[in-house]
Amino acid sequence: MMIRIRLILIATIIAFVISNYLFGQQNLTNSQIEEKVNLLLSEMTLEEKIGQMVQYSGTSPKYEQMIREGKIGSFLNIRGATEANRLQRIAVEETKLGIPLIFGNDVIHGYRTIFPIPLAEAASWDPDLVEKAASIAAKEAASEGTHWTFAPMVDIARDPRWGRIAEGSGEDPYLGSVMARAKVIGFQGDELADPFTILACPKHFVAYGGAEGGKDYNTVDISERTLREIYLPPFKAAVGAGAGSIMSAFNEISGIPASANELTLTDILRGEWGFNGFVVSDWNSIGELVSHGIAADPYEAGYKALKAGVDMDMMGNVYLISLSELVNEEEIHEESINDAVRRILRYKYRLGLFEHPYINPDCTKDVILNEKHLDTALKLARESIVLLKNEKKILPLKKDLNAIAVIGPLANDREAPLGSWACEGKSKDIIPVLEGIKNKVSSKTKVLYAKGCKVEGGNRKGIQKAIKIAKKAKVVIIVVGENADMSGEAASRAFLDLPGIQVELVKAVYKTGIPVVVVLMNGRPLAIPWIVENVPAILESWFLGVQCGNAIADVLFGDYNPGGKLPVTFPRSVGQVPIYYNHKNTGRPLNKFSKYTSKYIDLPSSPQFPFGYGLSYTKFNYSNLRINSGKISLSDSLVVEVEVKNHGDRTGDEVVQLYIHDLVASVTRPVKELKGFLRITIAPNEKRNVKFVLYPEQLGFYNCEMEYITEPGKFEVMVGGNSVDLVKTTFEIEQSSN
Ligand code: NOJ
Repeated sequence: MMIRIRLILIATIIAFVISNYLFGQQNLTNSQIEEKVNLLLSEMTLEEKIGQMVQYSGTSPKYEQMIREGKIGSFLNIRGATEANRLQRIAVEETKLGIPLIFGNDVIHGYRTIFPIPLAEAASWDPDLVEKAASIAAKEAASEGTHWTFAPMVDIARDPRWGRIAEGSGEDPYLGSVMARAKVIGFQGDELADPFTILACPKHFVAYGGAEGGKDYNTVDISERTLREIYLPPFKAAVGAGAGSIMSAFNEISGIPASANELTLTDILRGEWGFNGFVVSDWNSIGELVSHGIAADPYEAGYKALKAGVDMDMMGNVYLISLSELVNEEEIHEESINDAVRRILRYKYRLGLFEHPYINPDCTKDVILNEKHLDTALKLARESIVLLKNEKKILPLKKDLNAIAVIGPLANDREAPLGSWACEGKSKDIIPVLEGIKNKVSSKTKVLYAKGCKVEGGNRKGIQKAIKIAKKAKVVIIVVGENADMSGEAASRAFLDLPGIQVELVKAVYKTGIPVVVVLMNGRPLAIPWIVENVPAILESWFLGVQCGNAIADVLFGDYNPGGKLPVTFPRSVGQVPIYYNHKNTGRPLNKFSKYTSKYIDLPSSPQFPFGYGLSYTKFNYSNLRINSGKISLSDSLVVEVEVKNHGDRTGDEVVQLYIHDLVASVTRPVKELKGFLRITIAPNEKRNVKFVLYPEQLGFYNCEMEYITEPGKFEVMVGGNSVDLVKTTFEIEQSSN
């Protein structure tokens, strides 16, 4: 009996050791992973290796057969445990090597609990909360079988016509970098093998947001300096935060498409930054090298993409057909294929997929739309709202007014607040503005509603009813803007005004003389001069996700004091675009008294609302700006302190922003560059001392030789609540003595 027990024990231990060795285990060390990857690689045929580099979308019997043949290593757009497990079973149980599939999805601003769109999240200037939202998105997505998100989207966007501006953090490389880092950490957590974390994939590498004319997929022609100083920093921050994959973009960068760009994908990403994850192409962006005109056929496209550093082909069908022939004809070495496959397999191990290929269908319980998730969604939605105008303190409204009119095509809409890329978000989960308001006001308050018109189109039939109910109310709340699909991919606009006859609706209601509050819902900065000049109160709510109506009602009725700030400049007219705060001075900076200076003759040069702008129901005052020294050396740091006082009678949030200006340098420098910020809550009459530490390397730039340096000389340092109203002082970086 004893001997039998002992034998069983020994057999169990051996089985455990063997299965752990073969199938991986959690928290493997890098060298263990390396060993396993190399062992696996040594057993793979060339075709099986290429299969790991191939990703398809959705499922079909054809794909299932391809999995069996080892021709697919990854899928996108597979959601739900049942389907994920079904396909995974084929890969694990019906193939020679049993290598698990990796499932990727666009989990951009939430999985089922939809958070504000990324542009709105950036308006919160609250990276901790944004990180938390990303970790929730990861948890929900992982619980339904997703291993990998194609996020964060970290493209800098200076052109609001570009629909994908909605998916990123706006125009500024510093704010964009902070948000990129927060999201990567949120998605990936401390340990990728944790079943509730997912692999991040910063995208679209790189400069996709520089599309000419704001037209999606269009040509990008920028200097290497602009590439390095504006478009690359958020990617660098994401890589620094540990992002394990990167997506190569659709666009060309000054003649070389991003998905065949050796400078960006290999020299900079891997060479300069030491990125050791894998690169996935955007959807067919390898195949599109033919349309770009740098490849004659898929073979040349595959050759160029692989050589540049793209490891996985998303839906291009190029690697599958071209790579083995390219190897057989000795156009490429099998070692390049091995390198790419190693990079992919390493992450399959790091994610723990070999040990836990399947998802337990029960694990979605208590995860999807969990109370705590909804609570974070509410907090982030409130923090993302930007108060653009509030004349005569019309806001906040009293909860016990006897009648309120809620008007507009988006007032009772459950689709728009989902925004683009809403993943598993459902319109039934959305609290529309009308519902949020009804839940907020007193029982004796009548809430009257009229749609007025649609977002698009010219049907005026509803305007009369809107006027009629407005006349019965003490105040009118008009919710106007864009539909969700008017921003995001392939949704560039040539105009930035409110679509359809929405301005007409606002004007008609305004004419009644009843005070009007406009709530904007949109995925980009809009140019709405009439509304800004005439309507006394305007809230920018972007697309706020599931808690939209609750968050807006909290702000409208004063249960939450808005503190969001614009992560992007709002133009007065589309003619000003591109318009961004960190522009250069030019040789002839604007001087309204001198004709021959940089300006328009028919429009002010200033934006409608500057970057960093946003009001509160209270007032903040900045004073006593101090620096620890007027002169620092290249090895010192500069301590900048300022006092911020809440002069009103309500507690409020302020985003304290720090900008610098390098006054004289060997290459021209922007008039302002954001280098630090902090969102703080200040009680009435409270004064807070806010401290920033600046290091000389934060004050550097790329010189004529394209080396990153910090040059000695004078700098301005400016602090304030937006990029225009700032208190400032100067300091100098001294020439070092040796
Ligand atoms: C194309 C988009 O550009 C990219 O952002 C997305 O991740 C992929 N399609 C996959 O859906």
